[in-house]
Amino acid sequence: MNQKVIIFDTTLRDGEQSLQASLSINKKIQIAQSLERMGIDIIEVGFPISSPGDYKAVQMISQKIKNSKICSLARCLKEDIEIAAKAMKNAISPRIHLFLGTSTLHIQSKLKKNFSEIVDMMLMSIKWAKRYTNDVEFSCEDAGRTSLDDLCYIVEKAIHAGAKTINIPDTVGYTIPTQFKNIIQTLFLKVPNIHKAIISVHCHNDLGMATGNSISAIEAGARQIEGTINGLGERAGNTALEEIIMALKIHEKTLNVYTNIKYQEISRTSKIVSHLCNTPIALNKSIVGKNAFSHSSGIHQDGVLKNRENYEILDPNSIGLKSCPLNLTSRSGRAAIKHRMKELGYLETDYNLDILYIDFLKLADKKGQIFDYDLEALAFINQQQVKT
Ligand code: KIV
Ligand code: ZN
Repeated sequence: MNQKVIIFDTTLRDGEQSLQASLSINKKIQIAQSLERMGIDIIEVGFPISSPGDYKAVQMISQKIKNSKICSLARCLKEDIEIAAKAMKNAISPRIHLFLGTSTLHIQSKLKKNFSEIVDMMLMSIKWAKRYTNDVEFSCEDAGRTSLDDLCYIVEKAIHAGAKTINIPDTVGYTIPTQFKNIIQTLFLKVPNIHKAIISVHCHNDLGMATGNSISAIEAGARQIEGTINGLGERAGNTALEEIIMALKIHEKTLNVYTNIKYQEISRTSKIVSHLCNTPIALNKSIVGKNAFSHSSGIHQDGVLKNRENYEILDPNSIGLKSCPLNLTSRSGRAAIKHRMKELGYLETDYNLDILYIDFLKLADKKGQIFDYDLEALAFINQQQVKT
């Protein structure tokens, strides 16, 4: 039987950290509501101790969202945990997400501590967080650069202390898929109580590996993916959830997994996030970029007109896109022009395709992309010629 992959969205926390201006509470509520509509399992709303605005957003969204779990970030400090718990007081199922650096680099040069002090902080904080909720997640910050022995040790201790989810972040996007998969496989091999927790991953995209690393972690047994809509996030961003979700859907039979996401909402949610965060989406962004389903070369357009599957691995309708007209440029062939003319309501006898195509190419060479109104103007001139 296929296993569920939990989709954990941190657009409002890790994603928002990277924006030029913070989001207003109203915008955060709108984003949370679209994530809920899309079927996101867990929404990480913020880091309540970090600012009054974050606290208020967590508090308000906790009251409004009913179908997704609400999560708040906290350092392994009592005060952080108490404030996170207080902000989520009205949430139906709150999660406290604790994080602490586990790589020698972070322990020594950021936290100025030693490994055993880190383990003690982790144990104390899980115990403290469990006073407020049974749903505690522990993240080994900079796991991608943590020694495997240290990682296995602290993960076992965290599970024993009661963390229900263990998150393995590649905080600086350092690893490549074979290495990241090896980290997760090693945890499954060497941590005795690993099956008592859900293993989650949280990848950053500094080397463009975030989606690949997350999928390789799924192959190794991870069952929660953390990421953001449109891949927003620190530096080069976080794992783009729309990419993960569609990759899991397309390869569900190979990976034996499923998600509870409503695919039809993907395009709309992506647009809402882009608009409210004032962050345009690159034209060639996988799944949600404007060009993700538009075909330019004549050979591709002809192939798609014969059978969309020739050059499309997924149906744009499946992510809620209405229509994806062909991109008409000087690379387009006669088949694409004929097809578009038919869509615009012209009969084949209304125009001379050979002449129209020559005029089309001349204009496309000057203009680049040809829009419907250009084609209609060319067709009008062409019709006059057909008549005379
Ligand atoms: O990238 C990271 O390590 C984080 C943690 C707080 C999970 O964002
Ligand atoms: Zn992160």
